[in-house]
Amino acid sequence: MPVAPGGHRGPRQWLRTKSVEESILDTDDPERGLTRSLTALDLTVFGVGVVIGTGIFVLTGQVARTTAGPSVAISFAVAGAVCALAALCYAEFASTVPVAGSAYTFAYASLGELSAWIIGWDLLLELALGCAVVAVGWSGYVRSLLDSIGWHLPSWLSGTSEETGFGFDLLACVLVLALTAVLVAGMKLSARVTSTVVAVKVGVVLLVIIAGAFFVTADNFDPFIPPAQGTTDGDGGLRAPVIQLISGYQPTTFGVLGVFSAAAVVFFAFIGFDVVATAAEETRDPQRDMPRGILGSLAICTVLYVAVSLVVTGMRKYTELTVDAPLADAFKAVGQPFWAGLISFGAAVGLTTVCMILLLGQSRVFFAMSRDGLLPPVFSRVHPRFRTPYRSTLLLGVVVAVLAGCTSISELAELVNIGTLFAFIVVALGVVVLRRSRPDLPRAFRTPLVPALPLASVLASLWLMLNLPAETWARFGAWMALGVVLYAWYGQRRSRLRRGEEPPEHRVP
Ligand code: ALA
Repeated sequence: MPVAPGGHRGPRQWLRTKSVEESILDTDDPERGLTRSLTALDLTVFGVGVVIGTGIFVLTGQVARTTAGPSVAISFAVAGAVCALAALCYAEFASTVPVAGSAYTFAYASLGELSAWIIGWDLLLELALGCAVVAVGWSGYVRSLLDSIGWHLPSWLSGTSEETGFGFDLLACVLVLALTAVLVAGMKLSARVTSTVVAVKVGVVLLVIIAGAFFVTADNFDPFIPPAQGTTDGDGGLRAPVIQLISGYQPTTFGVLGVFSAAAVVFFAFIGFDVVATAAEETRDPQRDMPRGILGSLAICTVLYVAVSLVVTGMRKYTELTVDAPLADAFKAVGQPFWAGLISFGAAVGLTTVCMILLLGQSRVFFAMSRDGLLPPVFSRVHPRFRTPYRSTLLLGVVVAVLAGCTSISELAELVNIGTLFAFIVVALGVVVLRRSRPDLPRAFRTPLVPALPLASVLASLWLMLNLPAETWARFGAWMALGVVLYAWYGQRRSRLRRGEEPPEHRVP
């Protein structure tokens, strides 16, 4: 496709968009295109595979105990509703711009290059950091299983904790390296592995709901929304949700505000449905299958989460829930160690796919950014036999493995959430902009009620962001500032679109 000779110069370059046709045409490049093999069912399995993970298996107990009590079920419903609005926007974009890169590609097509860069940089928080966080959660479950059969890892290889201080998380690191190898070997293999693991994971979640329902006691739901309590925040208010600080409230936990603070944290449990959009380029019929895959996986997960959180807080008083393995421990508490062991095993198996798909999503975002010249070319070379972006996957895998070895979960999860919610905002705005700038594009799936629904999605995502702690906002701001500096230093000078370049195969002779 011909592009403007010499490209644009001047500040308006930042607003220059990459046309949808250019994005789609890029996928025809044999050196830089991916195989189209996934169906709607694959995508739904893919979505459920990444969505159900640390959020439901670990954060439910933490949040019920510290922020929301049994009303964590309402928090899940709130977070699910926010994601449903975003999903309707993602579905339109993914079916209109069916190429690798998710929100990054969408932003490039609608809002311009700088926004695209910012979103690509922001997605690192969601995908790479999210993968590291989930690997650490996985390692906790595996250690607890090993402990129960009498194998104990030394504390210096068991990760960082408040009791033992810094330790390298060997299991988390090994998991990420192993998954990297699977991804390099090819998408088909990883999709097959994913389906098996997803079946185990959904089975375990259903087991919690069905078996646990027999042990629910109505007393445990009283009070359903525990009364608000003042916080004992020793960090000068930095742990308090921004919304409470700016509205002048004395920061509290529990109460109605606690339901929303909890929603901003358990939002982590939904992260991943948008990752389905990153596989658009590998989908056989993206126009039809993408919306089905995204909305289907989201609906299944929301129903399961609300049910699991009701059952678990009904089995055990929220004040007595444990923080590391709340689902399994609720079964131990009612004298069912066998079911507890099975649940721990299923959780450990299930978290594996979450890590793998987050890693896959990240390598595809790098792939798309590199193909556009915003990152070095090494990130978009496809392996001649495996047809995967092997170099970027390897590099990424090693970095995430080291990160997983050296990090702890809690505060990083909030950073992952703020980054993801920001991406939702950009995508929702992008839907409105692209409807105006390119009304002619074929859209297999159209977001209903544009612009009202995308604007509601923006406000809902912003609301959850404001319910995150001030220190999370500070970290997010610092990360994004670093991204803008990198764009000025590398991306904006090397951008293929800016330089008026096409990939070699598309150059007009
Ligand atoms: N949604 C994923 C999880 O809960 C990231 O682990």
